[in-house]
Amino acid sequence: MDGAVIGNIHAGAHLVLSQLPVVWKVIVITTTTMSSVVPVDLLAAATNPLYFQNLITTNASDPSTIALLSYNDTFRNNVLGENATARRLYNLDWQAFHEMGTYNRKTNSIYVTSNYQSLDNPINVTVIDLGNDYAFSSTRYTNLAEANGGTNWYPPGSTQDNSTTPPNLLFCDEGDFDRYSGLVSVDPSTNESTVILNSFLGRNFSSVNDVRQHPETGDIWFTDAPYGFWQNFRPKTQIPSQVYRFEPATGNIQVVADGFIASNGLEFSPDLKTLYVTDTGAQQSLVGGLNGTRPASIYAFDVVDGRRLDNRRTFAWVENGFPDGIHTDTQGNVWAGCGDGLHVWNEEGRLLGKVWNGVESNNFAFIPGGVLVFSNAQLWIVEGIKAVGREICRDFGVCE
Ligand SMILES: *[C@@H]1O[C@H](CO)[C@@H](O)[C@H](O)[C@H]1NC(C)=O
Ligand SMILES: *[C@@H]1O[C@H](CO)[C@@H](O)[C@H](O)[C@H]1NC(C)=O
Ligand SMILES: *[C@@H]1O[C@H](CO)[C@@H](O)[C@H](O)[C@H]1NC(C)=O
Ligand SMILES: *[C@@H]1O[C@H](CO)[C@@H](O)[C@H](O)[C@H]1NC(C)=O
Ligand SMILES: *[C@@H]1O[C@H](CO)[C@@H](O)[C@H](O)[C@H]1NC(C)=O
Ligand SMILES: *[C@@H]1O[C@H](CO)[C@@H](O)[C@H](O)[C@H]1NC(C)=O
Ligand SMILES: *[C@@H]1O[C@H](CO)[C@@H](O)[C@H](O)[C@H]1NC(C)=O
Repeated sequence: MDGAVIGNIHAGAHLVLSQLPVVWKVIVITTTTMSSVVPVDLLAAATNPLYFQNLITTNASDPSTIALLSYNDTFRNNVLGENATARRLYNLDWQAFHEMGTYNRKTNSIYVTSNYQSLDNPINVTVIDLGNDYAFSSTRYTNLAEANGGTNWYPPGSTQDNSTTPPNLLFCDEGDFDRYSGLVSVDPSTNESTVILNSFLGRNFSSVNDVRQHPETGDIWFTDAPYGFWQNFRPKTQIPSQVYRFEPATGNIQVVADGFIASNGLEFSPDLKTLYVTDTGAQQSLVGGLNGTRPASIYAFDVVDGRRLDNRRTFAWVENGFPDGIHTDTQGNVWAGCGDGLHVWNEEGRLLGKVWNGVESNNFAFIPGGVLVFSNAQLWIVEGIKAVGREICRDFGVCE
């Protein structure tokens, strides 16, 4: 299927994709703003519902600074470290920075997916060049209709370590009215793409949302949710929001968890004993706004024998927006993109702190010594942090 042209963009499409990939080069002046670590007094907050309103003076509708909110000294001392700084790299008039955030060593770039706009203007892949001061370009790949979450992809037989040939990218494809939702691999050095999965034993997925590859078994764990239907680019959902485990060597596929409104981000703990899954059910994409009585929650599960899930429990509920993309660091802390930036918990679910920029931040990517924050039209970077992302050693070959 490599080199094939995407046919049948939905009727009415104005974008001509006769030659893929299409690339738009974008160079935007970087804006630099500094950050500060702000200690949060939880006992004061416990009896003052207005505490947080008075804590942060940044203009939330036009933030130019980021506040590093320390809810627990561990955040300042061990997670960020005393020298962390944050700045905004971009503030665009379109939403280039939404999901994924996967590093590829061959291209020394981070791959991000843009936010859905319309069938006439489908989701781009935003390529951030780490070797060129975070300059970025937008592209699209054959076989990939509407990309969302993603991860690195080691095909069956490969060893996942930092000496392995750098892997390919694995994109969640939300599909559209004509094309299936599923998983698509792309080699970004050739732009060849391959469909890995597009059906549960003959049943269509809704809109596959996010994905991880288990570093020991090589199995692909992923979530599916009705976003394509809610955003009017997929037919009516015909399958529950679930978590799946797919064995790429055998084709075996199993549902490992259900009971979500919108199963979304997922991530393993660094010891691989726990799987975290976010439920963005509070987001009402059909009518807009949030329904505060629905889940904005992270659930934790025990991973049994590397293959099954057990002991579902509520790990965290967030008071601002909903937790979307989720990653762990090597200390076992859990980071999620939420309504006002990134929230960070320790493995017991204690909120340690926030990378607060006041705007919805759906996902983020660890880089050595830092983290890139995807706030849709804005891209932020926090540098000089102590925390190390779970996959930094494998993906970057930068090991402690
Ligand atoms: C906050 O930013 C918005 C958008 O730039 C602006 O319209 C508004 O006046 C600002 N508010 C304050 C208090 O500065
Ligand atoms: C900070 O978190 C640690 C656990 O990581 C806990 O023992 C400690 O009591 C917390 N401190 C405060 C002030 O909550
Ligand atoms: C923070 O920066 C100061 C001044 O450059 C330096 O002395 C100190 O060692 C740094 N701390 C860490 C943990 O890197
Ligand atoms: C894709 O990128 C182009 C230019 O880089 C931009 O104009 C367009 O709005 C983007 N579309 C989406 C859905 O992000
Ligand atoms: C499954 O998706 C394909 C591709 O979009 C579509 O042609 C087919 O009608 C769908 N099947 C059902 C049962 O909806
Ligand atoms: C692959 O696509 C990128 C745009 O993302 C382009 O810069 C590059 O030249 C393409 N590579 C090949 C081998 O076509
Ligand atoms: C690969 O990982 C091992 C174990 O963490 C480490 O000792 C080694 O230095 C790493 N190799 C490279 C090239 O970074």
